[in-house]
Amino acid sequence: MQIIKANNFACPLDGTPLLGDKTLRCDNGHSFDMARQGYLHLLPVQNKKSKQPGDSQAMVVARSRFLEEGFYLPVSDHLNALALQYLALAGDLCVVDAGCGEGYYLDRFCDVLMLHEGGAATLTGLDISKPAVVAAARRNKLITWLVASNSNPPLLPQSVDMIFCMFGFPDYAAFKKILKPGGKVLLVEAAEDHLLELRQVIYPEVRKAPPPALDRAELVGFSLVDSQSLTYQTAALNREQIADLLVMTPHLFRATREGKAAAAELDSLVLTVDLQLRVLGMVDM
Ligand SMILES: C[S@@+](CC[C@H](N)C(=O)[O-])C[C@H]1O[C@@H](n2cnc3c(N)ncnc32)[C@H](O)[C@@H]1O
Repeated sequence: MQIIKANNFACPLDGTPLLGDKTLRCDNGHSFDMARQGYLHLLPVQNKKSKQPGDSQAMVVARSRFLEEGFYLPVSDHLNALALQYLALAGDLCVVDAGCGEGYYLDRFCDVLMLHEGGAATLTGLDISKPAVVAAARRNKLITWLVASNSNPPLLPQSVDMIFCMFGFPDYAAFKKILKPGGKVLLVEAAEDHLLELRQVIYPEVRKAPPPALDRAELVGFSLVDSQSLTYQTAALNREQIADLLVMTPHLFRATREGKAAAAELDSLVLTVDLQLRVLGMVDM
């Protein structure tokens, strides 16, 4: 498939179509410039809940380094296979990664999509963190990158075939609005044993929780179409990689001081990756 730039933008202030190339404008005179790094900032200041929302620069750098080591390569491969199974590659496609971080997964999906015959595809990664989107824009110039929020994705209604939401913060009502009829959400979330060996070091007691319930999704009309588990052991992480993993996850904020000190003492750690990949579709109403 040929990857082309997205053209289904909606003004984040009034929802009307945004048109243009380097500067996008809506009919009501709101305008947004493409940043020189190649992304669009479509998060109005009044929609920001903090000055620098989302992941910090330090988290983005740690995640980039960790992912580049290949520890989550099987996650990316499984995501790609599952997405291809539910996308009709014959026509034109629009796939969005909502909470894309620094773009690792969408970049690898782009590589796979380009190997397939078919029409044109737009790939859009959006994240509320500007440092994450700046890093993503550096990674892949074919993908459209947006600083934007999952709660108000600046995309036209019924213009998206599939939304990835990986280790993220889904807003199901907003996702429903931008999905085409028959569109799908693909969730990747931690299952009970995810990173168990690290959690055993940093918490006095490990609580095993299943992936989040789907009641909020079901409330707006989504239902579960497919659910797959992915469980494997990583290669051994060294001291720096363990530190990166801690920084890139919410565990850094939740772990006890003693737990973090114990993790800093580790020279090597093999981890269990235990994930649930779920595909959601709209129930016909
Ligand atoms: C745990 S990280 C996962 C990043 C990426 N999906 C990955 O798996 O590598 C969660 C991401 O969600 C972003 N995020 C948090 N709240 C968000 C929101 N309301 N809208 C869009 N992105 C958000 C963060 O900035 C961060 O990049």
